[in-house]
Amino acid sequence: MFQKNISLKDYNTFGIDINAKSFVSVSSLKQLKTIITENKNVFILSGGSNILLTKTITEPVIQLNTKGIEILDNKSENNTVFIKVQAGENWHDFVVWCIENDFGGLENLSLIPGNIGTSPIQNIGAYGRELKDVFFELEALKISTNEIITFNKEVCKFGYRNSFFKNEGKGKYIIVNVTFKLTKDHHKLNIDYGAIQTELENNKIDNPSIKDVSNAVIAIRQSKLPDPKEIGNSGSFFKNPVISKAHFENLKVTYPKIPFYLLPDDLVKIPAGWLIEQCGFKGKRYGDAGVHKNQALVLVNYGNATGEEILDLAKKIQKTVLTKFNIPVEMEVNII
Ligand code: EPU
Repeated sequence: MFQKNISLKDYNTFGIDINAKSFVSVSSLKQLKTIITENKNVFILSGGSNILLTKTITEPVIQLNTKGIEILDNKSENNTVFIKVQAGENWHDFVVWCIENDFGGLENLSLIPGNIGTSPIQNIGAYGRELKDVFFELEALKISTNEIITFNKEVCKFGYRNSFFKNEGKGKYIIVNVTFKLTKDHHKLNIDYGAIQTELENNKIDNPSIKDVSNAVIAIRQSKLPDPKEIGNSGSFFKNPVISKAHFENLKVTYPKIPFYLLPDDLVKIPAGWLIEQCGFKGKRYGDAGVHKNQALVLVNYGNATGEEILDLAKKIQKTVLTKFNIPVEMEVNII
């Protein structure tokens, strides 16, 4: 069932050429359970869109390829629809399916790379929406006992690019499906994000549908973010850091144009892309590793960069930002 010494180049969006000692693509829960009965120490691979591979993976690699989208009629009511999606479904394909069926809630999350099963782990988010806003529950296989456990929103402890599965639950569960709570009609659009408004205005749309919002998000992403099919990348490599108001006020004296988002408790979030750009990294290339020319938060592989080379660049960026601004920027991508 397992294949030996397989290159994972086509299974990670960074396009890093690293081998797995053994690899299996799993297409049913039954198959997954059988494997987990015999192997407790496994490496779960989903869309490979949030990992940087730096060394050969010695644990058996399980690629989740389970498919299926099911409307839960028994639960759905008035304006609400509940949709259960298997872990191996591609995220954006599901978003497109929802828009075609006029189910609202996911339009701002269009074109995010990756699969359904990993979307809750980092609570994916973009343009004013996060997964948690449309999440109902998920089912996960507990590796130690091989039983299926249901997690509601509260138990998932969603935060900014964070959840239970990145903390206490790390490495203990395999998410097998996610149920979303979406609208059937009277969709609640979230178009406050400046770039979405500009895009809609440019297209002279004043009463947007979910499809219009999705198209606007797609256009914005395509203009700023590299397509992993063309240049290897994992989206935002770093999280946007949060600093104290006092620190922010200090920085503002030197950098009056610093972009920011005010948070509760006298905290301020600063776009890491801006900090990195100020340090002169935007568009820079070191061999085949580089910083994207339109969005400094995104590191790219021009072809044959190794995971180590990308990681070295990331560390260099962290060090420079820390020295210049006294702000630690945390990596968002999982380093393997
Ligand atoms: N900026 C710069 N230089 C850059 C990049 C950004 O000055 O190179 C400035 C922009 O001018 C703007 C601000 O930073 O004032 C924010 O930029 P942007 O709207 O592009 O958003 P971001 O904070 O850089 C976050 C998410 C993205 C998400 C966008 C839109 C994180 C770590 N990243 O980026 O998520 O698409 O907001 O909501 O929170 C991802 O997670 O992979 C991802 C792409």
